[in-house]
Amino acid sequence: MRLRNVKYAKELLESYPEIIIQNPKKHAGNWKEVFKNKKPIELEIGCGKGKFIYEKAETNPDTNFIGVEKFDSVIVRALEKAMIKPLDNLRLIRFDAVNIDSIFKDYEIHKIYLNFSDPWPKKRQAKRRLTSPIFLKHYTKILNPKGIIELKTDNYGLFEYSMLSLNHDDNFQINSVILDLYKALPKENVQTEFEIKFLKLNKPIYYIKSSLKEDNK
Ligand SMILES: C[S@@+](CC[C@H](N)C(=O)[O-])C[C@H]1O[C@@H](n2cnc3c(N)ncnc32)[C@H](O)[C@@H]1O
Repeated sequence: MRLRNVKYAKELLESYPEIIIQNPKKHAGNWKEVFKNKKPIELEIGCGKGKFIYEKAETNPDTNFIGVEKFDSVIVRALEKAMIKPLDNLRLIRFDAVNIDSIFKDYEIHKIYLNFSDPWPKKRQAKRRLTSPIFLKHYTKILNPKGIIELKTDNYGLFEYSMLSLNHDDNFQINSVILDLYKALPKENVQTEFEIKFLKLNKPIYYIKSSLKEDNK
């Protein structure tokens, strides 16, 4: 990316603090104040250019949505969508989810979406996968007792790793698994940018739904 564009992204992100939350740590435990209501909050980690989280917010006004993305140059595309038609129930955060438990507290998240997360295929990169034990530990801290994780991926390696990781974790249980989502497509499925790309390549989409075990808190 050219420097000019990086500067553009940074300036734009700072110009819309009502959509892109500037200092997310200060809202930990108090996100209902940001939304000015007590509706449940759902999170997409690695929201990319924001198609999924924007459409979820647009079609589910009784839920609040937050998209987290670590790169300015990517989340700026999500911001552009929200600038055209702002939604009361959508906020964006430019943040590396490695410290996600510093921006949410007190079990304030109802659902986490992990859509087409980076697979980090090398063994030495495993801890960066968004379903590695360290991330699951963070999710246990921020998810409400009935909290859910929904994962979609085209990557078999990440799918298999996530199944094992969730299965070995004391706090999570796996509720459902679909090996080819488009053979059993739930009508509420919202496509992501990467999902559309992989479908065009005729790749199967793997799906996992997992929830916290009842006695975890
Ligand atoms: C393959 S893209 C998928 C984007 C989108 N979810 C979709 O399905 O179209 C993965 C995204 O996750 C972001 N990401 C990866 N690790 C992250 C982390 N630790 N914190 C926040 N974002 C992350 C990447 O920057 C990238 O934009």
